[in-house]
Amino acid sequence: MASSSSSSSYSGSGPDIPWVEKYRPIKVVDIVGNQDAVARFQVIARDGNMPNLILAGPPGTGKTTSVLALAHELLGPNYKEAVLELNASDDRGIDVVRNKIKMFAQKKVTLPLGRHKIIILDEADSMTSGAQQALRRIMEIYSNSTRFALACNTSSKIIEPIQSRCALVRFSRLTEEEILSRLMVVVAAEKVPYAPEGLEAIIFTADGDMRQALNNLQATNSGFGFVNQENVFKVCDQPHPLHVKNMIRNVLEGKFDDSCAGLKQLYDLGYSPTDIITTLFRVIKNYDMAEYIKLEFMKETGFAHMRICDGVGSYLQLCGLLAKLAMVRETAKAA
Ligand SMILES: Nc1ncnc2c1ncn2[C@@H]1O[C@H](COP(=O)(O)OP(=O)(O)OP(=O)(O)O)[C@@H](O)[C@H]1O
Ligand SMILES: [Mg+2]
Repeated sequence: MASSSSSSSYSGSGPDIPWVEKYRPIKVVDIVGNQDAVARFQVIARDGNMPNLILAGPPGTGKTTSVLALAHELLGPNYKEAVLELNASDDRGIDVVRNKIKMFAQKKVTLPLGRHKIIILDEADSMTSGAQQALRRIMEIYSNSTRFALACNTSSKIIEPIQSRCALVRFSRLTEEEILSRLMVVVAAEKVPYAPEGLEAIIFTADGDMRQALNNLQATNSGFGFVNQENVFKVCDQPHPLHVKNMIRNVLEGKFDDSCAGLKQLYDLGYSPTDIITTLFRVIKNYDMAEYIKLEFMKETGFAHMRICDGVGSYLQLCGLLAKLAMVRETAKAA
């Protein structure tokens, strides 16, 4: 019972595997973005003595990738024997902690000086607090031979005592440049025909999530054979930002009726109010307008989002938002 079957997620090649797996970085240095975290991992990979770790951050930013790469660099040929990888698809109830994890921690494996067995608990925020409680003492008793790496989206779902035993490494969403640099690598390797605006559109829809960016790139490429703006938005099925931008421009130019007509079109195409409002927000954020107006627009969009989340996602609600935005513009003009 060395590593679990889930470590097969670290298989590298093959013609038909999704690009997210094919281009999953194998070395810590290849991980894009989050420089602080990556620099810390590089030091650990060089010097050994990995502390217990919690990696926390939004999806698709490289947590699983980092922890797998780190374990491979630390343990090399001993990986199979010395790593136990469990994720949310494995049973990780209190019994598994008491039996499987404890037995692995007790197991004797001969490793080079300064190296430890590693137990990777991916998606650890889905572990029950009972199971987490059962980990507390195990972490301490076997600390001279076994270290833990927990990856999760929200660190607050990890109980305090576990947090206090671990070094917390935070991951944040990747910047546009970071995603672009990785996309360029994949585009070149796969010889994807693209227009620069197509990649921009992918970055816009991914919103800092590298996994989504790569998936959207592959889906657009296999669906249309060419990555341009239009194809990307067809694949991602999100309101076209240019359409939304037009709506905002109409508001700013005092053409309220045109703006509402644009909204109606989107609504009739079947986009959900949440899709519309999130795109609206991102467009406003990037729109070149007076700062005061932008701030007010964001505030109003935020309030409308809140009401939509409360369940009031009608056309009327969105129209009401446009009316508010138009009024902001009027007040700004008068002042
Ligand atoms: N920082 C990064 N650099 C390069 N590729 C990345 C990065 N982050 C994510 N990827 C790509 O996205 C895929 C998914 O990343 P990963 O599994 O590490 O995400 P995660 O942070 O564990 O997300 P989740 O919280 O959903 O588990 C990887 O296979 C890789 O191709
Ligand atoms: Mg993960």
